[in-house]
Amino acid sequence: MIPRVKGTDDILPPESAKWRTLLRAFDDIAARYGYDLAVMPVLETTELFARGVGAATEVVEKQMYTFEDQGGRSVTLRPEFTAGIVRAYLEAGMSGVVKLAAAGPQFRYEQPQKGRRRQFYQVDLECIGDPDPRADVEIIEMSQRLFAAVGVPEVSVHLNSIGDAGDRAEYRDLLRNYLRRVSGDLSADSRRRIDDNPLRVLDSKADAAVVAGAPVPLDHLGPESASHFAAVRSGLEEAGIPYEIAPRLVRGLDYYNRTVFEFFSPAFEAAQSSLGGGGRYDPLAELVGSRTAVAGVGVALGCERIVAAMPNPARPRLDVFVAVADTQRSGTAAAWVRFLRGSGWRVDWTGGDRSLKAQFKAADRSGAAVVAIIGEEWDAGQVRVKRLATGEEAAMNIEEVGAWLKR
Ligand code: HAM
Repeated sequence: MIPRVKGTDDILPPESAKWRTLLRAFDDIAARYGYDLAVMPVLETTELFARGVGAATEVVEKQMYTFEDQGGRSVTLRPEFTAGIVRAYLEAGMSGVVKLAAAGPQFRYEQPQKGRRRQFYQVDLECIGDPDPRADVEIIEMSQRLFAAVGVPEVSVHLNSIGDAGDRAEYRDLLRNYLRRVSGDLSADSRRRIDDNPLRVLDSKADAAVVAGAPVPLDHLGPESASHFAAVRSGLEEAGIPYEIAPRLVRGLDYYNRTVFEFFSPAFEAAQSSLGGGGRYDPLAELVGSRTAVAGVGVALGCERIVAAMPNPARPRLDVFVAVADTQRSGTAAAWVRFLRGSGWRVDWTGGDRSLKAQFKAADRSGAAVVAIIGEEWDAGQVRVKRLATGEEAAMNIEEVGAWLKR
């Protein structure tokens, strides 16, 4: 036995049924809001993340799967989508507003636990080229729609603005001064960050009590960031989306400015287990080499965490399981199975050459809503159907089965 790599998962039935529901709902919502599919490489150059996500971030410092390929290039298994998608936008020479949706595995070398994996799956939405606060609202609205669509209720939105580079230059000095004053009480990690990444100290779990009195970015926004944030807030209110202001939320990646947000579910106790997060990243394009600024805002949602909060599927796995009482009718049964599948029903069968008892067992195990039994009536164009949940049984002409199933 060769076991799987630590921190990775085999996602198999029945659990995988929830994944199918989630990925379909994501695809549907993305399409309804005009987000086209982006299918992105898993491998990117290491430099993309070092510059885009930021060399002083935890992701780049400690968590990347980086190696040299056979040609001596340093490549990295993507730890997130955003830097790669903005790279693709620039590399394809795109311009104007482009809205993209992506789904796939990410890789971060973390201490594995439930909901914290080394290979994990994200669904991701990026609205590139749009500085308008309405785009921020749209991204949050879509995320909430997705949670509702897959039956994860009561997800709360934690919202903040960290201002833009100009606002932060002044604020960072204030924060550094404060942190230096309390540095004796800070963890070693946070003390190290005072110089290179002081904002990260704000959302350090270990130092929550010490930073509770620190100045927060929200109180130091310039007029443009402040009015942008006010518009995001009123947009959310118009959309009927409740949110909480989280003044110490700064997010772990360097490319953000202005709006940042995270989603939390009461299904999880640990404060670390956000279902997703995102924000505005107007500086990112230039960080990865664009000569002109390109605005952007997006979100990534963690599929393992959403699935863990999802209820079991209410809808049966199959619409119909076809059982054949007599092998001599297997051939025409096969044609009918093919016809039903072609008409959009979810259908399975054993091929009809096992005992009827064995076929019923298989039907039970299959999670089908209905068993259709092909017996003697078949020769007169009829089939017997039985709803497994209620035991309701009927015989009918095969042309009527579709309408009966719909009921
Ligand atoms: P992030 O906060 O690093 O943001 O990750 C987003 C979500 O991915 C997290 O809230 C969590 O649900 C999930 N996640 C992260 N790490 C793990 C892990 N080790 N195991 C399981 N789930 C995990 C980003 O990745 C940004 N690219 C989001 C974004 C998109 N910002 C703008 N556009």
